Amino acid sequence: MEKRDALYAGKAKSVYRTDDPQRLILHFRDDTSAFDGERVESLARKGMVNNKFNAFIMGKLEAAGIPTHFDGLVSETECVVKKLEMIPVECVVRNLAAGGLVKRLGIEEGRELTPPTFELFLKNDAQHDPMINESLAETFGWASREQLARMKTLTFQVNDVLKQLFLDGGMLLVDYKLEFGMFNGEIVLGDEFSPDGCRLWDAKTREKMDKDRFRQGLGGVIEAYEEVGRRIGIEFD
Ligand code: C5P
Repeated sequence: MEKRDALYAGKAKSVYRTDDPQRLILHFRDDTSAFDGERVESLARKGMVNNKFNAFIMGKLEAAGIPTHFDGLVSETECVVKKLEMIPVECVVRNLAAGGLVKRLGIEEGRELTPPTFELFLKNDAQHDPMINESLAETFGWASREQLARMKTLTFQVNDVLKQLFLDGGMLLVDYKLEFGMFNGEIVLGDEFSPDGCRLWDAKTREKMDKDRFRQGLGGVIEAYEEVGRRIGIEFD
């Protein structure tokens, strides 16, 4: 596979075309951003850690029958993925109250959410990724009713797989965000799964082990990501 020109540079990843029109290369950079890109820092090893983390999780999800865009690692910080036609909607599941939910509804942080909640957000930087619902998504053509139903089913399947995986490593999967796209007429999980896009707490101490360490200036960000990885069986050189 030959890497070609850059297609798009996001806040933490860059996307490249390849000689195969159906495949892209994702490059995980060390850049870390928060608060709508207001705060950006480079954290050593982050690209490598998130690339390996994502590869491991995508493998677990594929093994559980969830279709993903992941094809394989190509370097320490890069992987090959299927080129999806992305659906501009973010799917968020929450098992415990934190972050946006706490802020928006005044719910106490850490409260167990039974059943887990499911929220939709529009991917739109200019509008700061506003919360939407299925009616709005359908009316404005962001996603069809069928796509929304499938995304919801897959997002909860991911919860079943990953909640247990992290619990086995002594961690609580508090919440996470997924993005999907279309490939050959099928809904496929895209983007990435790493501690940048989920919340993970130590099950005993409830210590934060995810990007909230960066957002809240707690330090030890990449050390925490590596610890999460080690606890679920990932080896970082
Ligand atoms: O901020 P909020 O509490 O709504 O985020 C819910 C989950 O989705 C968190 O794990 C957060 O890291 C993730 N998220 C994300 N990218 C966004 C918005 C939320 O990864 N643009």
